[in-house]
Amino acid sequence: MVIGSGPGGYIAAIRAAQLGRTVACVEQWKNPAGKPKLGGTCLNVGCIPSKALLASSEEYENTLHHLRDHGIGVENVTLDLSKMVGRKEAIVEKITGGVEFLFRKNKITWLKGHGKLTGKSGRGIGVEVSGDDETKAYWATDVIIATGSKARHLDDVPVDNVIVSDNEGALSFDSIPKKLAVIGAGVIGLELGSVWRRLGSDVTLLEALPTFLGATDETVAKEAARQFTKQGLKIHLGVTLGNVTTSATGVSIAFSDKDGADQTLDADRLIVSVGRIPNTDNLGLDSVGLFVDERGCIPVGEHCCTNDPHIYAVGDVVRGPMLAHKAEDEGVMVAEIIDGQKPHIDYNCIPSVIYTEPEIAWVGKTEQHLKAEGRAIKVGQFPMLANGRALGIGQTEGFVKIIADAKTDELLGVHIISVNASDLIAEAVVALEFKAAAEDIGMISHPHPSLSEVVREAALAVNKRALNI
Ligand code: NAI
Repeated sequence: MVIGSGPGGYIAAIRAAQLGRTVACVEQWKNPAGKPKLGGTCLNVGCIPSKALLASSEEYENTLHHLRDHGIGVENVTLDLSKMVGRKEAIVEKITGGVEFLFRKNKITWLKGHGKLTGKSGRGIGVEVSGDDETKAYWATDVIIATGSKARHLDDVPVDNVIVSDNEGALSFDSIPKKLAVIGAGVIGLELGSVWRRLGSDVTLLEALPTFLGATDETVAKEAARQFTKQGLKIHLGVTLGNVTTSATGVSIAFSDKDGADQTLDADRLIVSVGRIPNTDNLGLDSVGLFVDERGCIPVGEHCCTNDPHIYAVGDVVRGPMLAHKAEDEGVMVAEIIDGQKPHIDYNCIPSVIYTEPEIAWVGKTEQHLKAEGRAIKVGQFPMLANGRALGIGQTEGFVKIIADAKTDELLGVHIISVNASDLIAEAVVALEFKAAAEDIGMISHPHPSLSEVVREAALAVNKRALNI
């Protein structure tokens, strides 16, 4: 029995079905029209719809500002926001329908409603499913909890998804706000802030921490701040929020800036993107002897097993980064463990991506992290500007930075800020998983002309052997 059908849950269900289990998956999600949906946050109101809007807004910005560099003149450019949002919704419909198809194909039963653990008996682990019309009891040999997370909201700043939105409302504005405020300059703030800036909003981000993108390699974060500021995003760091007052037409945010000066930001709309919290409401954890830790996560070991050997938890509801691909990997791992196999995840090899323009992607450790560990390292960096393909497509911002062990040359971290960084990082993930040396990437043939040559040149630069600079 899998509870939750996001990337953690639906992938676990498919893998368990492939391995011959009888699988049911409980999912309560309904779209705004009241239609039950599989796919969880990622497919319905997260990764997939945000990337659709990022693509549309990028097309718009390119048409307005960059096509003329190619000698293409376009006049009377118009923007049909409802069509753009409709396209995003059609993509969500298609991809969530795809999961329904995969469930049918793998003979996975979709139990529509809220799943709650009810205790253990001779029949197994009890799961009660409350649907629209009835509540039914089921028993399972093994349970995988994959209930995901929900947006963290701020006390005294109610989210109505009209004036004040979390990730859900910010994907479906019915008009382009003239002034948009964002609280939290993290992943969602930067991605959705970028969408609305490209479409014409004046966007200001208020971030509590004094450093920008603290988990990112410092060289990359510095370049990102430079690029985003150049694009017009206004980013205030080290902010302390004061009163947030909303009216029917807008919002007024009092805050003190990094120097302690009191300021007020007035905007038409506000996005609150201050992190997410695990979903464990009404899950009946105590009925099976489980609990949540101080962060609200279900405690699990390295292999996602709870303190009950037949109950597992994966994805956003457990420790580790809240990333769809991390949840998927854990879902596969758990299904295989239940099958008696011995899979393993190296969490150091899980990549992170921020889908701004340029994109930011990394795997392994940052330079500041390695220095704090006292590790002797060597660093190679290569700019996109020196790459023929990047010049050809007119996207020369950013670089690839590779960090290797000073003695052994083993790859320790790869950090990319560039167009298509989300795809370029995949080569680095393979290399890290296989414990490659920087030299290994430098010795491998890369297609010419391609952006991937920058990864190779950065690897060569680690040993001062870059060729095209
Ligand atoms: P986040 O953790 O990335 O960023 C939240 C930011 O809000 C932090 O920088 C934090 O310091 C700041 N903050 C917290 N309280 C604040 C306050 N009172 N005033 C001002 N700033 C405050 O969380 P975010 O952006 O909400 O995303 C949630 C999760 O979703 C993340 O864990 C992320 O992993 C995941 N996600 C991943 C994406 C990707 O992989 N591309 C895309 C979108 C979300």
